[in-house]
Amino acid sequence: MLERMEGAENALACLHDEDYDVPFNTQSLNADGLVFMGGRQQELLNGEWNFCVDLLDTGLRQKWHTLQPEAPEDRSEPYDYDPYLGETVPVPSCWSMLKEKWYFFEGSAWYTRAVDFDGLGADERLFLRVGAAQYDCKVFLNGAFLGNHYGGSTPFNVELSEYIKTGRNWLMLVVNNTRTRDRVPMRNTDWFNYGGIYRDVSLIRTPKTFIKDLYVALVGDDSYSKIAIDVEVDGETSQPVQVAIAELGLTCAIPLERDGRGSVIIEARPELWSPESPRLYDVEATVGADRVRDRIGFRQIKQIGEQLYLNGESLFLRGISVHEDDEVHGKVLLDSDLERRFRHAKELNCNFMRFAHYPHDERAAKMADELGFLLWEEIPVYWAIDFANPATLKDAQNQLRELIRRDRNRASVIIWSVGNENPDTDERLAFMRALVETANSMDPTRLTSAACLVNHAKNRIEDRLAQYINVIGINEYYGWYDENFDDLIEFLDNSDPGKPVVISETGADGYIGEGKLESGFFSEAYMAEVYKKQIATLREREFVKGISPWILYDFRVERRQNMYQRGWNRKGLIASDKETKKQAFHLLSAFYGELKGKA
Ligand code: GCU
Repeated sequence: MLERMEGAENALACLHDEDYDVPFNTQSLNADGLVFMGGRQQELLNGEWNFCVDLLDTGLRQKWHTLQPEAPEDRSEPYDYDPYLGETVPVPSCWSMLKEKWYFFEGSAWYTRAVDFDGLGADERLFLRVGAAQYDCKVFLNGAFLGNHYGGSTPFNVELSEYIKTGRNWLMLVVNNTRTRDRVPMRNTDWFNYGGIYRDVSLIRTPKTFIKDLYVALVGDDSYSKIAIDVEVDGETSQPVQVAIAELGLTCAIPLERDGRGSVIIEARPELWSPESPRLYDVEATVGADRVRDRIGFRQIKQIGEQLYLNGESLFLRGISVHEDDEVHGKVLLDSDLERRFRHAKELNCNFMRFAHYPHDERAAKMADELGFLLWEEIPVYWAIDFANPATLKDAQNQLRELIRRDRNRASVIIWSVGNENPDTDERLAFMRALVETANSMDPTRLTSAACLVNHAKNRIEDRLAQYINVIGINEYYGWYDENFDDLIEFLDNSDPGKPVVISETGADGYIGEGKLESGFFSEAYMAEVYKKQIATLREREFVKGISPWILYDFRVERRQNMYQRGWNRKGLIASDKETKKQAFHLLSAFYGELKGKA
């Protein structure tokens, strides 16, 4: 624990040390520390937390985390904030949505709460889990710095066993959402930079020896009869991990190597999961006193040449892109919002959704498993990332590893996307290739992709990354950014991708509120016209194996400020109220309905 200097000495040190944050940026809370969550009890720490915005990082400079709870009159020196007093905010939440004065706030914010703990058993360990905090989250318990996590959309754990006391503890989370050149995403994006702890925070008790990871998937050839089970155990044991899939009458013992890992491939003939038949099986794993479980769908996704196959049948992805954004709640995802998302996707006759541009709440892929949707999941390697920076690559790889560790038991997830609209430079190619290799090494059962740009110089699909990914995502806005629509036909004629192409974005703004236009850019009619032409053109192209138009709902973004946008991107098929449908919604629904009928 960093010692705090006393009095005036401390006050002066705070003014002159511009490396104040270096000791608090270990980024030691990462994919390696994740605890498998399936079937585990969690003690939620949601609710009211003491809160203070801290634009100049006065807290880290003055080391507020070392302040002990005491009455104001007993303080031995003045502080600019007392973490134990003052206003509170609900967790989870985005501070941007709580007060007008915090809407655009970018910087650090301090969250503090008491944790009354009734003690750890002799065979117990304790972990903190944060579902997501945007962007850097530093953890302090009872004044000790326990590490920090980079990445605004993936969960992380930190072990508290050595630091938690029986009785009252004080937990402080310092969250910083500043946009910078070297973060992932970097400082320029087309979605709102909400700040805060916007998913659940909880405590998890485990036995001394526990199952840290469980990965179950259908593997092998087209007999669909081999299930691979990989496990990782943290702690001492000489016992194998017992895994049971009761409905298949399967049990197996997985012996562990010295590193705590073990894997088996077992013969089985599960009913296959698909959107039409989303069959899930309960899988249970135990070692010693630890027991976890998950609901697993067994399916095979393959790319051969320009074709996609799901369980051996050719596949067309009838999709829609979605942000995690809400007019009232920002990035906090309510169950009701998620149910509405899938209801609207069903009304569109979708079998596929692109979760853009970052990992969405884990409930989304679980609901997709249950309802029968295929998913594209993505990390926010977006636009002009600092591709030459090794620290940036480490951050991006860690976010990808955390996403894959979190969701690789989700049958619905068929594509890991490593980026969006990045420039085709040497640095970017090396960076993205490393990400593709990370995805393939962690999960050989899924496809990789990225949303690539049209090569406008040649008006064709040409991106050097295409050689390393299974599916070529293409964001094309013919009729909008390239308003000469005939170029789309030439673009398709010029292209010979040799792999399946998913039109990962296409669309146009259509504003339907007060003062709307009846024609021209930003009118609903123009947006509908773009959809009509896109549908008529794309449906004829053999190598197009999927479409996920941009986007299901209008969404909040700082950079869109004309009189029709007013801080929103208006390309939603549904307005920001998430109920009012635009003409284009019905056009896409009818098109996908026809395709569904033919499938
Ligand atoms: C880009 C980008 C999106 C953006 C969209 C738009 O393709 O990938 O994040 O919102 O275009 O311009 O609306």
